[in-house]
Amino acid sequence: MLYEQLDTPCLLINLDIVEKNLRRVADFALEQGVALRPHAKTHKIPALARMQIESGAVGICSAKLSEAEVMLNGGIKDIFIANQIIGSKKLSKLIELSRRPVRLSSAVDSLAGAAALNHAMQQAELWHDVLIEIDTGLNRCGLADETDRRCDEILKLAAFIISSNGLRLKGIYTHEGHINSMIDRNRAEENALRVGQKMVQIAESIRAAGFDCPTVSVGATSVYRVTPTVPGVTEMRPGTYIFNDAGMVAVGAADWNDCAVSILCSVISRPAANRAVIDAGSKTFSSDKYPFQTSFGAFKYRPELSVTWLNEEHGVIIGDVSCLKIGDKVEILPNHVCSAVNMHDQAVAVRKGHIEAVWEIEARGKLT
Ligand SMILES: Cc1ncc(COP(=O)(O)O)c(C=O)c1O
Repeated sequence: MLYEQLDTPCLLINLDIVEKNLRRVADFALEQGVALRPHAKTHKIPALARMQIESGAVGICSAKLSEAEVMLNGGIKDIFIANQIIGSKKLSKLIELSRRPVRLSSAVDSLAGAAALNHAMQQAELWHDVLIEIDTGLNRCGLADETDRRCDEILKLAAFIISSNGLRLKGIYTHEGHINSMIDRNRAEENALRVGQKMVQIAESIRAAGFDCPTVSVGATSVYRVTPTVPGVTEMRPGTYIFNDAGMVAVGAADWNDCAVSILCSVISRPAANRAVIDAGSKTFSSDKYPFQTSFGAFKYRPELSVTWLNEEHGVIIGDVSCLKIGDKVEILPNHVCSAVNMHDQAVAVRKGHIEAVWEIEARGKLT
């Protein structure tokens, strides 16, 4: 079946572009001599995680335990859960998953969190690998070393992990996601280099205190070619790179031809000369928008058109819409592909206009 015959709205994945994106980043990681551990939060589909491993990734990253479980069930054997595992239910689930013949690791950024994780692992008679999360500017989780006091906290946490009987210190990691919204490429690249240097400096302080710190992991698609070039960085964890999106194009980190995901929509109404309406809104695209973006999605092949505003079930296009007729099928590139994918049960994988596979987005809606 040709994809134009599909019911709408429908999430399409262009496999030729996916393969090109995977190859480009895997080649870069190889050239740099850094391990590639893509974040699977972008696609949430085990078949694509397997393609990432086949193209050279050492393992994947997931944001939630429940996402990791889907990926383990899909045959992925090495997963870093880039998040703090807090609470007894989650610790029990982590232990259940850790008993499988797989390599699981997770994040810590506090003595309280590490102590609870260690206690659970000791009780289960297991060892668990952890990476200390470092905040390099996103101001989300993670310890920062802006002051000596915070650097002390990193060393204290490392010392606790080393002396524990359930945790092993695998290294440190950061997500330099604050750089993703910098439209000034020079500023973005300078910031990315500073992030890499800061991470290497922290790893050296940990080693100077007498502890091993083998992994220094960074990751953000907009600067995937920059942060990992700092000598001493050992791992990169880009996520969005597999699909790219209108956000990455807007910051100059990708080209329209690198965008692999579009949402096939139908024009359902032309109520005024300057207005058209499609059958997809925030329930289809999510309402994510970078601060500098003025629309909620870009038209593939028609850069002069964009989605001006959204309701849950409607997308409204204002402007010269004379080329749009009721019943037309249009492809819209989402602003933020990770959250758009999360809105869909299925993805249709397309090659040269033909449907090659229909995938369940198995790790969508995984909140825990
Ligand atoms: C911890 C972590 N690592 C890596 C990534 C991948 O970032 P990007 O999608 O910009 O490549 C994310 C994305 O949210 C993340 O939260």
